[in-house]
Amino acid sequence: MSDPRPIGVFDSGVGGLTVLSEIRDRLPYEHTIYFGDTARVPYGVRDLDEVRGFAFEIIRYLISLNVKIVVVACNTATAAALEAAQAEFEVPIVGVIVPGARAAVLETRNRHIGVLATKSTVQSGAYRRVVHNLDAGIEVHEQAAPRFVPLIERGIVDGPELEKTAQEYLTPLKEQLVDAVILGCTHYPLISAPINRILGPEVRLISSAGQIALEVGRILSRRGYLRRPKHPEDKGHSAYLCSADPEEFAALGSRFLEEKIQVAAL
Ligand code: DGL
Repeated sequence: MSDPRPIGVFDSGVGGLTVLSEIRDRLPYEHTIYFGDTARVPYGVRDLDEVRGFAFEIIRYLISLNVKIVVVACNTATAAALEAAQAEFEVPIVGVIVPGARAAVLETRNRHIGVLATKSTVQSGAYRRVVHNLDAGIEVHEQAAPRFVPLIERGIVDGPELEKTAQEYLTPLKEQLVDAVILGCTHYPLISAPINRILGPEVRLISSAGQIALEVGRILSRRGYLRRPKHPEDKGHSAYLCSADPEEFAALGSRFLEEKIQVAAL
């Protein structure tokens, strides 16, 4: 049996493309639909109730497009809405916080974990809760980094302005001697090079993109939802949608995915 329905993935902007890219690498025969809510980015400075409302709207829309699973490729939306959405909708829904927290607990040696995330994700306490469910003795040092997302959405992923901002956010984490840092926002893997430079090679950077792609594969396989290709070249298609200027999203998205993409506006 083959299930041709697409996988739905959403974020407030381009950040979730880091998750989409892993899903496409690991599940190349799956069709995907990506939605970037660029009209309302950033989510990370908003009230969690408001973000939950946005997430529900987008999940309903993706379900109307007949997706077989929804991937919340946004930490802020996961913190705000995952549990409520899982309780509300029939379709399987996965979020990025649990896989990232689990990976960090496995990686740390000195049991000091840093979490770099948006203001709302830090305020939700979601990472701290999940890490402590796995190992209550780990020290979790959370750092809100509200200026990163607007920079990344403008395509600024390195250079002096980014470097200066990163120094400011990373210095407190360095002072706490963390040995693993969770990139608790799906935008941040796009700036992992400067973050790595500042933190040094002894600090491991954890992003949940790869872990979540594995989880999506496992869920689809167990439920018999995988798409079976007709032949090895029968790869899945990706459709891209956004809520603001599609040209701008296409330009930035093509750069980050290293392939030309077409984007439709909603
Ligand atoms: N990429 C998102 C996250 O993982 C949201 C960034 C934002 O819109 O503030 O939290």
